[in-house]
Amino acid sequence: MTLNLKVWRQSGADSAGSLEAVVAHGISPEMSFLEMLDLVNERLVHDGKLPIEFDSDCREGICGTCSLTINGKAHGPDLGTAVCQLHMRSFSDGDTIVIEPFRARAFPVVKDLVVDRAALDRIIQAGGYNSVTTGPHADANATLISKPDADAAFEAATCIGCGACVAACPNSSASLFTSAKLTQFAKLPQGQPERDIRTIRMVTTMDDEGFGNCSNIGECEAVCPKGISINNISRMRRDYVRAVLRTGGRVTES
Ligand code: SF4
Ligand code: FES
Repeated sequence: MTLNLKVWRQSGADSAGSLEAVVAHGISPEMSFLEMLDLVNERLVHDGKLPIEFDSDCREGICGTCSLTINGKAHGPDLGTAVCQLHMRSFSDGDTIVIEPFRARAFPVVKDLVVDRAALDRIIQAGGYNSVTTGPHADANATLISKPDADAAFEAATCIGCGACVAACPNSSASLFTSAKLTQFAKLPQGQPERDIRTIRMVTTMDDEGFGNCSNIGECEAVCPKGISINNISRMRRDYVRAVLRTGGRVTES
């Protein structure tokens, strides 16, 4: 296949960027989207040009680093698929493909298609963990967990932190991400002792980082490669109100 790429090129965080036309020849339908970009980059380097900067790591839908907007859609046209799992058979010979970085105020462009998503890490640092004391592990089955709760916690925990939900949301809200990271604890007994403080800290950090509010549009759920449900946002909101009522919104250092 031959594809007409229009790729966002931006030399640095403070530079103006623009879409640049790149023709991709000899693309096999079996290639992944990132392999297609690898091939394009090999040719750019061969011709003495700068390669297109983009992020990837695991290339199997686990790490969440492959953050691209393809033809206006975060992670591209296929449902439940991160960019690294997207294959060129989803496109046709002669197609024009517009490739842009994930866009959000909280995700500044570093270079070309690479954005800084450390704001998501700071939300996790604010409370996305269980404090532990020293001592032996409890027996694996000492705390019984119902199957529905275990399933809900596991489904929430499949969030890979890619940020597609933010990029797809007209408000650049990180509510789907944050609610998934809260739910994976809120549905388990081990998450209860710090539930209020965790919720207040993570939601407050989400707001402070410049993410917008959720207005129930649902684009986040539609583009999420892991199918994280928007119901998690409802749960986060209920937990937040309850946590503020219980604590008066005062959160002390632990
Ligand atoms: S909720 Fe989905 S889209 Fe958002 S960061 Fe997690 S995996 Fe990515
Ligand atoms: S490269 Fe890891 S999820 Fe795509």
